[in-house]
Amino acid sequence: MQQPLKTALSEQNPLERLDEWEEDLLIRYPEPGSIAKDKSTEAFRDYEHTQRDTVKEFYRLNHTHQSYDFVLQKEKEFLQFNKKEMPIWEAFTFLNQLVDDSDPDTDLDQFQHLLQTSEAIRKDGHPDWMVLTGLLHDMGKVLCLFGEPQWAVVGDTYPVGCAFSDKIVFSEFFRENPDYSDPRYNTKYGVYTPNCGLRNVHMSWGHDEYIYHLAKDFLPESGLYMLRYHSFYPQHRENAYAHLMDEHDHEMFKWVNLFNPYDLYSKSPVPPNWDELRPYYENLVSKYLPATLRF
Ligand SMILES: [Fe+2]
Ligand SMILES: [Fe+2]
Repeated sequence: MQQPLKTALSEQNPLERLDEWEEDLLIRYPEPGSIAKDKSTEAFRDYEHTQRDTVKEFYRLNHTHQSYDFVLQKEKEFLQFNKKEMPIWEAFTFLNQLVDDSDPDTDLDQFQHLLQTSEAIRKDGHPDWMVLTGLLHDMGKVLCLFGEPQWAVVGDTYPVGCAFSDKIVFSEFFRENPDYSDPRYNTKYGVYTPNCGLRNVHMSWGHDEYIYHLAKDFLPESGLYMLRYHSFYPQHRENAYAHLMDEHDHEMFKWVNLFNPYDLYSKSPVPPNWDELRPYYENLVSKYLPATLRF
């Protein structure tokens, strides 16, 4: 694998590592039965006061800048897929340039997280397209390598073009978002209609929306829902946007809910044995994906 590339510690990138956001999710949504879950509920009620300043600053930037116009602009920019074309295996190597950890002995690279997710899905006997979904789900983080700031790549996602729910983490930071005081976008439905279906809703821009569009022609719809909404914690954990969903979305969110624990709770310090697993995954990838992918 290539030499790790340090994520610039600039004002736009307050997280020391991209994975800090996911570590924070584990504090907010601890695994049922885990030690963290058994801590006093008071500690969790106090969640927003105990968070790392880097995470808080990351959310401040995210909530300030993810406006309706910003999202439309990013969709236009990135959904042409004219940045780079490469075979999937090369794409994993490319993604691994995001290894920006300070302790290479304990922190696993991006590919290991993808592989641990897909292996956990495989062990539970789920269909092979879901295993592949696990392997691909964070591929959209390559956006960082195209120069995008952390707040436009990771973080909980949510609809834009309508009122921001107060169930979104650190929702007070939306006060600085231009849409917060724009009457076109700050009502319950904004530019949408009741239960219009999420396919008609623009989500905050990040690695989920990007990988969904990238994989759109290759996976079944249930896998595509997993990709597109895997960071939509305000809905799949908080149920804050049911008023925009139609019946089909609710049906499909069973898959999103099934996927989430594999993403959040499959991390282990022991890396899977890639040499043993390689033949299975080469076969799986060639079954569903073309020879090269366009980014
Ligand atoms: Fe993700
Ligand atoms: Fe993930």
